Amino acid sequence: MTIAFLSEKLSEIKESGLLRTLHRVQSAPFAKIKVDGKEFINFSSNNYLDLAGNREIYKSAISIVEQYGFTSASSRVLSGNLSIHEELESKLAEFKNKEACLVFPSGYQTNVGVISALMTNEAESCIIMDKLNHASLWDGAKLSGSRIFAYEHCDMNSLEKVLIRTSKYKIKLVITESIFSMDGDFTPLKDFTWLCQKYNAISILDEAHSTGVFGKEGRGLADYFGVENKIDISIGTLSKSFALQGGFVCGSKELVDFLINKSRAFIYTTAISPVICAAALKAFEIVEKSDEKRHNLINLSKTLKIKLNALGFDTLKTQSQIIPIVTNTIGNTEEIAKNLLEEGIYAPAIKPPTVPKEQARIRISLISGHTLSDIERLITVFK
Ligand SMILES: Cc1ncc(COP(=O)(O)O)c(C=O)c1O
Repeated sequence: MTIAFLSEKLSEIKESGLLRTLHRVQSAPFAKIKVDGKEFINFSSNNYLDLAGNREIYKSAISIVEQYGFTSASSRVLSGNLSIHEELESKLAEFKNKEACLVFPSGYQTNVGVISALMTNEAESCIIMDKLNHASLWDGAKLSGSRIFAYEHCDMNSLEKVLIRTSKYKIKLVITESIFSMDGDFTPLKDFTWLCQKYNAISILDEAHSTGVFGKEGRGLADYFGVENKIDISIGTLSKSFALQGGFVCGSKELVDFLINKSRAFIYTTAISPVICAAALKAFEIVEKSDEKRHNLINLSKTLKIKLNALGFDTLKTQSQIIPIVTNTIGNTEEIAKNLLEEGIYAPAIKPPTVPKEQARIRISLISGHTLSDIERLITVFK
């Protein structure tokens, strides 16, 4: 049977210039990648500390296969709870300075699974979100059925107004990202946590892009700002600085017990692979000792931002390794991305609905393995 509406919908997407197609990548996500047989400088990976393909991590992953195989072939609540899951969780809890931790098969699943389990559509609870929160945080909030309020991006005055407006709700969950995935800017975490405490709201912080990069030994932005103990629930992913796959949530022991009982994204899925857990335990050791890589990454980011701004490009308020280059129209962004590809640079266009229409952009994300000459090449092409 042909599904008639599919071609109609696809044509609509195409006409609006928003059709997504997949590129065929033939190498690991290093600073240089091979796509469709050609080599590019890769400015589109979250492999921030350049650990993808690390030999020590590789050996750890391989050695565990002998003991556990590739999968537990079961949910954690049935026969899928392996001792290596618990080992990883206690390491992550310690790293994030929290009582307990629970791992999920992906960062997306963690956000959806935690938020939708915690909140319900009961009249006395609500969720308060930064407008630019990641899709996975929005999807969790929507799935919860709870009332959702949004405040202006990173604007603590706007957050306070919403907190005042929602004072009738007994349970308030306030959710933000530490480094925003498309803008690269920071939530002012001191003010954020102060407001959450003042208005008796529960705080959730998604540290997907800051874990490994900021804070002591890469503990994240809450550690960097000294407010780790003021964040109630800390979420992260293994897919970025750890260059693996999987997500995790850290908080109280009660929170973890509750999620084991109530989080459908945890209960109704096969446990995260033991191979990933073994790799993550090794990746931790390396991440903690990666000050030089962090230093290099931040220096490269500062240099690139200064050079782009000097050429007149708008990089919004980035303070990190994620550098947006706003191009204003979808057509412009497509054109620039195409030109970059022709010049051997892989930095795809980011378009709506991922970002607002008037802020279509090229999103540069840097890896500690990039060199100054990679940066220079990008600058020359942008010139
Ligand atoms: C802020 C944020 N949270 C969560 C996720 C989802 O993580 P994962 O890719 O590990 O599923 C992403 C990923 O792109 C993200 O940017």
